[in-house]
Amino acid sequence: MSPSKFQENAVILENSNYRGDYFLITFSAPKISPHVLPGQFVHLQLPHSPELLLRRPFSIYNTNAEAGTLSLIYKAIGAGTGALSILPRDTVVNLLGPLGQRFPQATKDQRIIIAAGGYGCASTYLVAKTAESTGLCLLGARNKSDILVEDEFQKTGFEVQVSTDDGSYGHKGRITELLIPALDAGNGDTVVYACGPNAMLAAVGRLCMERDTIAYLSYDMEMCCGVGACFTCVIKRKCDSPDGWEYVRTCKYGPVFDAREIYWESDKSN
Ligand SMILES: Cc1cc2nc3c(=O)[nH]c(=O)nc-3n(C[C@H](O)[C@H](O)[C@H](O)COP(=O)(O)OP(=O)(O)OC[C@H]3O[C@@H](n4cnc5c(N)ncnc54)[C@H](O)[C@@H]3O)c2cc1C
Ligand code: FES
Repeated sequence: MSPSKFQENAVILENSNYRGDYFLITFSAPKISPHVLPGQFVHLQLPHSPELLLRRPFSIYNTNAEAGTLSLIYKAIGAGTGALSILPRDTVVNLLGPLGQRFPQATKDQRIIIAAGGYGCASTYLVAKTAESTGLCLLGARNKSDILVEDEFQKTGFEVQVSTDDGSYGHKGRITELLIPALDAGNGDTVVYACGPNAMLAAVGRLCMERDTIAYLSYDMEMCCGVGACFTCVIKRKCDSPDGWEYVRTCKYGPVFDAREIYWESDKSN
């Protein structure tokens, strides 16, 4: 393991319901916390649950290096996240991290657009918090209760726009309907950071590439080992092979990829 990755018995300081099925958990994790870069994740081993053998990956939403803490936002959707949601304060949880490649940092002159679908806000918040410039943050979700940490993004100085599929909050429609005018208002100096469902990432990637705008996309693929050993988490990346693509492990070489690296289904006909 490289020196910047640690296995740490972290202690839960807070694990509370944020809203609906979403929870905010904060750990004391002084080994991992100071090394976290925007877009990285931890692989979490559920304690006292031998049936939940595999670790679960979660983006690192926020850190406080001085206090030695890190926070995650997670949606309770299954056995692992359900078990996580009932762990009380002071429970010890083994974390492996920080894992994966960071979102590359924008320069001071670049205008940043963040596009976060659902809990994609967890992977992109540190981009806004650590940015040298400000920009626009687009938060998209199915409905109002899936719009998370809007206030936190606003506190970073980013303008925040919201879209919901059902129109219960903000613009009624897809996040891409907010992204298009935002991209078109720029003058080529924009860099886009996105995390959300794969279909959203494909749409964001296509819109950005059509406009020669750099887009970094963070893929939440299902993962097993989290460290590059098992090939559970692959996506197709362009290469010089006869097929024009190769499988790449998102846990090790991602989860963040430049949209231009991805082999899109539309590339088949090229
Ligand atoms: C790099 C990375 C970052 C992530 N960050 C977050 C985060 O910040 N917040 C958060 O809530 N979740 C995040 N996830 C997803 C999270 O890891 C899964 O929701 C979790 O592992 C599900 O575990 P479970 O045991 O509760 O669900 P299971 O019982 O294993 O599965 C329940 C359902 O969720 C689906 N599922 C399982 N894993 C994933 C996944 N990786 N992506 C999409 N669907 C999945 C299953 O197919 C199934 O339909 C991230 C995943 C990755 C790879
Ligand atoms: S999860 Fe095992 S290689 Fe990525």
